[in-house]
Parts: sequence; C-alpha cells; structure tokens
Amino acid sequence: MGTIRANRLRVIRTVSSLRRALELHRRPSERVALVPTMGALHRGHMALVREAQRRSKRVIVSIFVNPTQFAPNEDFASYPRNFSTDLKVLRDAQVDFVWAPPVEVMYPDGFATRLAPEGAAKADLEDRFRPHFFGGVATVVAKLFTQVSPDFALFGQKDYQQLRVVTQMAKDLDLPVKVIGVPTVREPDGLALSSRNVYLSTTERAVAPMIHRVLTSCAARIKSGEKVDRVLNVGRIEFDLAGFALDYLEARHAMTLAPISSTKDGPIRLLAAARLGKTRLIDNIAV
Ligand code: PAJ
Repeated sequence: MGTIRANRLRVIRTVSSLRRALELHRRPSERVALVPTMGALHRGHMALVREAQRRSKRVIVSIFVNPTQFAPNEDFASYPRNFSTDLKVLRDAQVDFVWAPPVEVMYPDGFATRLAPEGAAKADLEDRFRPHFFGGVATVVAKLFTQVSPDFALFGQKDYQQLRVVTQMAKDLDLPVKVIGVPTVREPDGLALSSRNVYLSTTERAVAPMIHRVLTSCAARIKSGEKVDRVLNVGRIEFDLAGFALDYLEARHAMTLAPISSTKDGPIRLLAAARLGKTRLIDNIAV
C-alpha cells in the first residue's frame, strides 16, 4: 500500500493515498501547512516545522530530492539522504504526515510540463550559476501545492531568491496558499545551517562563518550611510582574502530583487554565494 504507519507519523508515497489521507483529516475549520524539503533535516528545517505547527493543526512535511532542480554536473547523486533519521526527528516533533513520493510518482514516464519562472527567477543571482534551478524548483513546488492544497507553505529566508520565486509563482497561478518566509537558523558562529555543510572539511568549516560576518559588516556600513557600491567592493575583497571563490555579493531590492544602490530606493537585501573547495554556500541578510 501507499502508506506506512509509524506511531502518529504517516509516511505517504502515492498521490492517491495522499488524497485519501487529506480527505479523512481535513475539516473545514482545520488549516493544513506544508513544509517542502529535500530531507537531511536540520534545525533550520525544524524551525519551519514549528512555525507550521503554530499556524495549523495539520502539518505535512514533504521529503523529495528533486532531480529537475539539479544540473547533470551537480550533486543529485551524492546529496545527503538520511530518511530514517529524518522520520525519527519528525516523529519526535509530532508531525502528522510525511509526503515522500518516489521519483516515478512525482515524474511518471511521459512527464512533459515544466514551469519557466521569470522576474525574481531571472535576477542574475543564483540563476546566473544554476540556470536550470528555478524552473525545477517552481515545477516541483507547484506540484506539491496542487497535491497537498495547503493553507500555508513555509520556506526559509536562507534561500531568499527561492522564497521570492515561489511566492510569485503561487500568486501568478492563483494557488490559494499563503507562502511564509521563516528567518535563517544559524550555528553559534553565524554559519547558516544547510544540508550541504556536511561537505565542508574542518579547515573549510572554520572559514565558512566569514560569509555571515562579511554580510553583517556590509549591512551595518550601508545602514550607517556608506555608499553601497564601495561597501560591496570591500566585501568582495574580504571574501577573496578569506579564501572563498565568490560567485556574487550583491545588494538588491528585498521584494523585486532588482539592483538597488541606496536605502532611499527601498528595502535592501544583501545576497552572497561563494565556494569553499567543492562546497557552494549561499547566504543573505536584510540591511
Ligand atoms: P531544502 O534545501 O531541503 O530546504 C527546505 C526548506 O528549508 C527551504 O525552504 C529552505 O530555505 C529551508 N532552510 C534550509 N536551511 C535553513 C536555515 N538554516 N534556516 C531556515 N530555513 C532553512 O530548498 C529546498 O530544499 C528545495 O529547493 C525545495 C523547496 C524543497 C524544492 O525542491
């Protein structure tokens, strides 16, 4: 069957069992919240789960390592997968349902439709380095929203461009879901939690918190009135000196992600992506 019972937690693997489970449990007065993930759960994911639980009685966490958002040269095959540990963590957190479709359920033979998001998805940030990425994310998240019909969906601000893309996609497709951004959960030294942090060597792990330190100091200097361009140029040099291969450090309008050069022109978000050895890290911060 499509469902495995594990205490209160139910792991669902087919669209028809998902429908049945939702019909049985959805009451008119009950809200459903969805937390989409690719598994390898950490405290960042669990902050989304807690926010989901605060907003609704029923929480569904999806675990699906989505092949369409990885390029052939990326880490789809080696992406960390800890399904049994994830289930234990979710059971302890009293989550109701885990939606964990196999690839052939999400993308059956003959699957032929892919969303092509623009706007924030073409901001020349992540999309410059991962051109396939937001098409894959928008497609799988649109499917998840259609499959689950959640009242709320929780996404991390850690993946800020993704949050903007998904918010716009739900609006453009008239999907009746409220997309909520949850603040980034960090290690005590400032490094944003990420499933990919396990790739870092001990030396790289010691350098990695510099991303947050540089972003924080850039934000403070912009706030105090220094010119955005000058601050970013210094920030780029700091990344370089720390040993990062910087993909970008940019100041963007927090809503549209359009380039912005002064706090007078709107709320500013600083976004960065940088590589340490073979690990690519992203982070961002509000000014
Ligand atoms: P994944 O990387 O597993 O992240 C799932 C969710 O957790 C995303 O919304 C992400 O922004 C959030 N998250 C990750 N690290 C976080 C942190 N340190 N603090 C707060 N939230 C954090 O993002 C994806 O999966 C996929 O692209 C997905 C949306 C599931 C589509 O496949």
